[in-house]
Amino acid sequence: MKIYSKKNIIPIVLGMLCTVLVHADRGEDVYNNICSQCHQLYVPNDQLVKNFFESNNTLLKLKAPTISQISYSMKQKIGDPREDADIQKMEVSAFIADYIIYPDKQKSVLNPNIGKHFKTMPSLKGKLSTEDIEAISNFVYDYDMKIHEEKGVHNLPFETALKRAKKEDKIIIIKATAPHCRYCMKMEKEVLLDKNIVNLLNKEFLVVDVDLSKDTLPLDLRVRMTPTFFFIFVNAENDKVKIKRIPGAWSKEDFLDILKESIAAKKKTDS
Ligand code: HEC
Repeated sequence: MKIYSKKNIIPIVLGMLCTVLVHADRGEDVYNNICSQCHQLYVPNDQLVKNFFESNNTLLKLKAPTISQISYSMKQKIGDPREDADIQKMEVSAFIADYIIYPDKQKSVLNPNIGKHFKTMPSLKGKLSTEDIEAISNFVYDYDMKIHEEKGVHNLPFETALKRAKKEDKIIIIKATAPHCRYCMKMEKEVLLDKNIVNLLNKEFLVVDVDLSKDTLPLDLRVRMTPTFFFIFVNAENDKVKIKRIPGAWSKEDFLDILKESIAAKKKTDS
């Protein structure tokens, strides 16, 4: 029997697409129907810091940690991010599936200074089907990535950035990162999602993220530590590049200064 004739393949593909779509929505539905009673999805980091560390949760009066905080903490504390990402995903999903049925603060992966503002979550035993649990676990696991895609800076391949840098007169930033690098993740969360920084990056820069466990750096660049930032200034007339290396993790204020200094340095060489 010829199943994969052209006539048949379209319904098969459409069918597969629908399953994927339905499955992707299910986690979000479970969040909206159940988890959202207590958990907000995302609150910017500077507000969370003010709320938990300066105002004892009186500012936002959160009923529970945000899904984004949970997603981030679990990836830091559960399993080994240097291992296969799929294995960590399974371990994290297993943690969530267990926690929502058998919540116990002893198992908590949250920063204790944040966890202490909350009583233990009530068990959701009997309220969710196995499929719901699987869907919501994946939703929470993926949330951290999703928020970066929505609110962070879009990363470009180096070749694209190089072409655009000349045309749009922008500075390229190459971020050298690694999956096990805690300071890279800390900077992603605390600095590279900040609204002022994201706005400035989008306006004046083109960002290239190189995960050193998978790829090598362009322009024969080398690093001793992660994260390291390279600021690449491209001269549109003669194609020459000037490179400034900034190793290490930075606070929001310092990184903003570094960005502004780079813009000033570029203006100087341009004129
Ligand atoms: C009635 C309020 C409430 C609902 C509904 C609720 N949670 Fe929670 N949840 C909390 C509170 C409060 C905490 C923080 C205290 C704790 O860790 O037990 C928490 C903590 C968690 C943690 C553990 C974080 C950690 O390591 O400490 C996970 C995972 C979690 N919730 C997932 C979910 C998911 C998924 C749903 C929806 C299916 C959900 N929660 C529904 C109140 C709630």
